[in-house]
Amino acid sequence: MQAIVGKVGDYLVRGCDRDDVPTVIKINEETLPEHYSDYFYYEILAEFPEAFLVAEVGGGVVGYVMTRIEYGFSHLKRLGLSRKGHIVSIAVSEQHRGRGVGSLLMQKAQEAMAAKGATESYLEVRVSNNGAINLYQRLGYHSAGRLESYYKDGEAALVMATPLGR
Ligand SMILES: CC(C)(COP(=O)(O)OP(=O)(O)OC[C@H]1O[C@@H](n2cnc3c(N)ncnc32)[C@H](O)[C@@H]1OP(=O)(O)O)[C@@H](O)C(=O)NCCC(=O)NCCS
Repeated sequence: MQAIVGKVGDYLVRGCDRDDVPTVIKINEETLPEHYSDYFYYEILAEFPEAFLVAEVGGGVVGYVMTRIEYGFSHLKRLGLSRKGHIVSIAVSEQHRGRGVGSLLMQKAQEAMAAKGATESYLEVRVSNNGAINLYQRLGYHSAGRLESYYKDGEAALVMATPLGR
């Protein structure tokens, strides 16, 4: 099993194992309308295992955060290039929310991305997802743009970003 990187209450956060991926996919399918091919999860895990984290309680996985490092235009500096950590997907099973698990997953993923040289973190979130937007704001994320019709059902995405490693 991967090393434990953080704890909140009875929940622990650790690196994702290949064996955890089917549960991660199940949580994603139960909680978010955006799904990916199984291959995509394994590819991200192989590419950047340090910041693909799961939250566990009583031996069962109840949440995950999946990230990758990209190089491209900064969401924070005008016309600058940047090594960016991308929060690709995060979810916590409904009955385990509101206990600090999502915040801890975000913080630990950010630390792992910063350790890999990322100087900023960014994500896309549905403009209607007030719960997640509040959480990201509390963690220091600011709006960095809006992508119209980003989601398959036509909803727009807010792009949110924050500096890392300060
Ligand atoms: C967004 C999501 C990951 C947050 O996970 P979470 O585990 O509930 O997050 P937290 O518990 O850290 O924070 C949620 C709220 O609980 C509060 N909270 C944190 N720790 C707490 C504790 N120990 N006791 C009580 N409340 C607590 C936080 O203040 C926060 O409130 P706020 O959002 O008003 O600031 C979760 O709601 C989810 O999976 N949603 C569905 C999927 C989704 O929308 N993902 C994001 C797509 S971009």
